[in-house]
Amino acid sequence: MKAVCWMGTHSIEVHDVKDPEIINPQDAIIRITKTAICGSDIHLYDGYIPTMEAGDILGHEFMGIVEEVGSEVKKLKRGDRVVIPFTIACGNCFFCKDNLWSLCDNSNPNAHVAETMYGYSGSALFGYSHIYGGYAGGQAQYARVPFADVGPIKIENDLSDESVLFLSDIYPTGFMGAQNCNISPGDNVAVWGCGPVGLFAIASAYMLGAGKVFAIDRFPERLKLARECGATTIDYSDDDVIIVEALRDLTGGVGPDCCIDAVGMEAHSSTLVGVYDKVKQALMLETDRPFVLRQAFMAIRKGGTLSIPGVYGGVLDKLNFGAAFGKGIHMAMGQTHMHNYLAPLLKSIEDKKIDPTFMISHRIGIQQAPEFYKKWQEKEAGMTKIVIDPWQDTIANPVVRVMERHSA
Ligand SMILES: NC(=O)c1ccc[n+]([C@@H]2O[C@H](COP(=O)([O-])OP(=O)(O)OC[C@H]3O[C@@H](n4cnc5c(N)ncnc54)[C@H](O)[C@@H]3O)[C@@H](O)[C@H]2O)c1
Ligand SMILES: [Zn+2]
Ligand SMILES: [Zn+2]
Repeated sequence: MKAVCWMGTHSIEVHDVKDPEIINPQDAIIRITKTAICGSDIHLYDGYIPTMEAGDILGHEFMGIVEEVGSEVKKLKRGDRVVIPFTIACGNCFFCKDNLWSLCDNSNPNAHVAETMYGYSGSALFGYSHIYGGYAGGQAQYARVPFADVGPIKIENDLSDESVLFLSDIYPTGFMGAQNCNISPGDNVAVWGCGPVGLFAIASAYMLGAGKVFAIDRFPERLKLARECGATTIDYSDDDVIIVEALRDLTGGVGPDCCIDAVGMEAHSSTLVGVYDKVKQALMLETDRPFVLRQAFMAIRKGGTLSIPGVYGGVLDKLNFGAAFGKGIHMAMGQTHMHNYLAPLLKSIEDKKIDPTFMISHRIGIQQAPEFYKKWQEKEAGMTKIVIDPWQDTIANPVVRVMERHSA
């Protein structure tokens, strides 16, 4: 089969590789019909997630048709149409039983590696390095899905692939990002990052009763989508804007009740502090660039809640923890507990409360993946979400929705 492989930092190639096989009686093999590139894949592309090996198959957002099931799989059969959650969970351990699926104790065969870094290991993830289990990802024509009775959700309606594909990660991730804020009706919510996760967080915050959502980014096409979701937008690249002050002004001097960091470890900043972070990260003196967290710590109102769906990998520098402590804020974070959200969010799509396709800007064939990883990392104009059809080599006109950069 064809698969998108990580070959090194900033090096992606499409290779013919061996088809996956059933290894465990609880496995299923999925013939993938659609897959997507995620903001999290950029952390791999940029080389910030350790323990990647040349040839690793990328991709954790995918769906398809069940091709084959292991002898112990009861809920799925050949021909079923399924979306696969990106976290792999056994369904039987203490954490799975407590609905903390992304903390599953059984799915990561390389848990000992994560334990040396974090004390304990989280669940395994598809296509996301060897600390997270070394499972082959879904930017390919087929994938092996372990614990097939636990994760995949069957799609038994006629919604298009693109309507349900984002149940695999970014819709549940944005939703949990909003839910972790404990939004009370009418609350002011600030969202950093208007990428796919931030956009779903904005839409979800409104579903959960937010009064106003303020969305921060610098790319006009992303800010435009945020406005289409109902947010008031702030362009942080505008020289006249100081984010903490802007949020204070927009909230009557109080600060947002809830803050959501949908940016994570690769936050951009052209300020002196941003340059400091970039240099320290490049010298491996700091693993992450916590620019957004610093702003959120200062901006949030006293007693507010900070939710962090953006991914962090290690040690953060110059974070004013005293501000968080002094204001008595609450914090929640982590990989999404995917399995809690698949059924209710599928229903929200069926009930037309949301159309997740609104953010898709490009549709590509598998051979175009290396070129589009580069464009996505460089945030080339109009790139808001890329969907891959692994059965087409090339799609001649990949643009689905024209979103021009100067259309702020
Ligand atoms: N917790 C989870 O389970 C989970 C799942 C999926 C993705 N994620 C993470 O969520 C984050 C966002 O993912 P995405 O797919 O939306 O990525 P993305 O890269 O498309 O979007 C990130 C956005 O943040 C903006 N940004 C950068 N610096 C900023 C700053 N200083 N202030 C405001 N905005 C800034 C960028 O312009 C960009 O639009 C990533 O860290 C990703 O790894 C987490
Ligand atoms: Zn993802
Ligand atoms: Zn488990």
